[in-house]
Amino acid sequence: MPAIAIIGAQWGDEGKGKATDLLGSDVDYVVKFNGGNNAGHTVVIPQPDGTSEKYALHLLPSGILTPGVTPVIGNGVVIDLDVLFHEIDDLNARGVDTSLLKVSASAHVIASYNRELDKVTERFLGSRKIGTTGRGIGPTYADKMNRIGIRIQDLFDEKILRQKVEGALELKNHVLTKVYNRRAASVDAVVEELLAHADRLKPMVADTMLLLNDALDEGKTVLLEAGQATQLDVDHGNYPFVTSSSATAGGACTGSGIPPTRLTRIVAIAKAYTTRVGEGPYPTELFDEMGDFLRNTGGEFGTTTGRPRRCGWYDAVISRYAARVNGVTDFVLTKLDVLTGIESIPVCVAYDVDGVRFDEMPVNQTDFHHAKPIYEYLPGWTEDISGCRTLADLPANAQAYVKRIEEISGARMSVIGVGPGRHESIVIHPLA
Ligand code: GDP
Ligand code: IMO
Ligand code: MG
Repeated sequence: MPAIAIIGAQWGDEGKGKATDLLGSDVDYVVKFNGGNNAGHTVVIPQPDGTSEKYALHLLPSGILTPGVTPVIGNGVVIDLDVLFHEIDDLNARGVDTSLLKVSASAHVIASYNRELDKVTERFLGSRKIGTTGRGIGPTYADKMNRIGIRIQDLFDEKILRQKVEGALELKNHVLTKVYNRRAASVDAVVEELLAHADRLKPMVADTMLLLNDALDEGKTVLLEAGQATQLDVDHGNYPFVTSSSATAGGACTGSGIPPTRLTRIVAIAKAYTTRVGEGPYPTELFDEMGDFLRNTGGEFGTTTGRPRRCGWYDAVISRYAARVNGVTDFVLTKLDVLTGIESIPVCVAYDVDGVRFDEMPVNQTDFHHAKPIYEYLPGWTEDISGCRTLADLPANAQAYVKRIEEISGARMSVIGVGPGRHESIVIHPLA
């Protein structure tokens, strides 16, 4: 009954999609447990003719690309129904079978008024903005906590749906009109918008908590694929510069209904350097030509919004933090190939906060904003490593880089990524 969680160790975009794809048919179920279409997971799949196909998934778990795997959207996810069906249609048009998809009856729905509120709130925040993806994620989770959210199960009883939309709009329309000077949303229009996909959705809807626990009872393997990452987690990230869901291992349980005692492995994905999209503190951020080098060589432009990603050096303080808060058993270190050609590679081992050394993440937000990286410098390599398939294939300095990163990051390095393709990986300890 293995239940494996894949989570992001940094600020997202570490390569969670590729890691999920690497596990492929070793798993029976792949569950998205948090977030929504703020995520963008890229998977590059080799084709029989030697070419490769690239997919960008936002709302669907990456496991949907593996034939025979049952993809599940868990209760912790917020769903934009238009996006869901666009994504399904796009995949079907490319020959991907999506018929096994299951959607939790308890997942929440992103209504149009929350997309509008996300964008208008950011505009009002001005220089204090979060830099959200504008997909309505924050306001939808706020409604969930405020107990005025609309859930998937509400879509199948029009009377109940209307009552819930009326209840939500009673509050939301005050905010839209009086705080933000926008037009009020009409109950009829929102009900119509939400019902538009109900018939098509109905056969996919399930009690996914029961389904997944039954699957584990039967000895099946369940993979829980996080959106976002530890530093974007609403509790454990750099609040308020976070997303509004639980992206850490605890969220894998609450967002799926799989109890903590059933998780058997926690795999954290970390880039061999770091990136961040949106606002917020970032101690190792580079503003010079090295930042441009990482961005251009690593193709660091957002999968969801196309924004250039902020780039910086590997930060072992946040990796140790991720190891601790998630109980990481294995790291996947991605994009080692991007560092090729750098003579001396800085790695952040601790912070200097106004003259005081911090070996662990400061709990105080102001301290983290003031954190300056204390670097250790590791010798680089120039050889192309994309063809390496074992640790011994790597140049000595690349091996030493991996070894040193492992020593300071809080868990073993089980897979090393040397390229975007499925097989461009060095598997030291298999993940399943
Ligand atoms: P996710 O959101 O965590 O799934 O990550 P994204 O898909 O947003 O961003 C990761 C990017 O890095 C994608 O374009 C991947 O194809 C790519 N990628 C993943 N692993 C590697 C690797 O080891 N080397 C290289 N060069 N690219 C990688
Ligand atoms: P994946 O799953 C990187 C960031 C946004 C913003 C903050 C809040 O591909 O790793 P939101 O729209 O969620 O309210 O925005 O979180 N963010 C991500 N950054 N990768 C992601 O997902 C992200 N999802 C949200 O840029 O700073
Ligand atoms: Mg991404």
